[in-house]
Amino acid sequence: MASRLSLLVLLLVVAAASATLTSTAAQLQYGYYNTTCPGVEDLVREELLAMFAADMTLPAGLLRLHFHDCFGAGCDATLLLKSHNGTAQRDADPNSTVRGYEAIEAVKAKVEAACPLVVSCADLLAMAARDAVNFTQGPAYQVETGRRDGNVSRKEDAERFLPPADGNVTVLTQYFAAQNLSAKDMIVLSAAHTIGAAHCPSFSKRLYNSSGAGDQDPAMDPAYAKNLTAACPPGNVASVQPLDPVSPNRFDLDFYKSVANGTALLGSDAALLEDSLSFAYVQLMTNDSYLDTFFADFAASMINMGRIGVRTGADGEIRDTCAIYVD
Ligand code: HEM
Repeated sequence: MASRLSLLVLLLVVAAASATLTSTAAQLQYGYYNTTCPGVEDLVREELLAMFAADMTLPAGLLRLHFHDCFGAGCDATLLLKSHNGTAQRDADPNSTVRGYEAIEAVKAKVEAACPLVVSCADLLAMAARDAVNFTQGPAYQVETGRRDGNVSRKEDAERFLPPADGNVTVLTQYFAAQNLSAKDMIVLSAAHTIGAAHCPSFSKRLYNSSGAGDQDPAMDPAYAKNLTAACPPGNVASVQPLDPVSPNRFDLDFYKSVANGTALLGSDAALLEDSLSFAYVQLMTNDSYLDTFFADFAASMINMGRIGVRTGADGEIRDTCAIYVD
């Protein structure tokens, strides 16, 4: 009886240990491709650096691409998939100005030539975001890899999970919490807007109908608002304005300084002043001596974002082309 019991205990221990092993094997890790595609991260960086040199605005596009993929339905490259019926994530309104798809496909082609069917599109998006941040003089950080790609892309996922440009801190925090990200992740990752641009419709409500009474957002610096109204007359949908008016191609603290002095472009960024936790962080980051702290925070939050809903192990697939039609 005693020996049966100990056999049972032994079996349970072995089962638990192998379950742990299985789940560990299916985790993301640093250097996942070290043996299966050595040098792939350098290859990706080299390809991107050439593209960034030709187009200084591309890094912002690629940083946003990773964010929109991760929030859409997990970091599984389903944002890249296409639909003939207009039902994929990329067909959703919040993704209408997302860009950089061709750059990822070009990198994927180079990677396929070196290591066929080994490296996922989702990992390329994470590497590209990392390289975009570093190219614009932001922090250098390692990305975890080992993601696999999904093959179902639903417009509704993007519509449901991407945060609104006029959201306040409570709303934005809820969108991040839905992805297991903290309020701090939200406050830190909003500073991705230290690079890149927004189209007029993303902020025109602040200029012409802030509270629904045809008014301007009183939180905006008047001179800044005047420039924006000149650049974005009502009905202009095509023009863009920098999200960080001081240094739109440099990853630095100017984003927080702009928020603090009323020259943030998006309502969601300006809203960071209205909550005590985000207000305190913004104020801290107006001080250049906290640049390293911001860099470390940003890198940590990017790693957190890169873990959203990942497929690993036997889940998902590795495709030879990222942007295939799924219907
Ligand atoms: C906190 C919630 C967020 C909201 C409400 C938001 C909203 C927006 C909006 C409305 C635009 C402009 C789109 C356009 O008009 O073309 C934009 C651009 C951008 N966003 Fe966000 N965003 C958020 C968080 C993030 C995060 C977490 C990242 C990356 C980690 C990010 C990266 C970017 C970048 C780099 C751009 C510029 C893209 C370009 O130049 O093409 N955003 N965002």
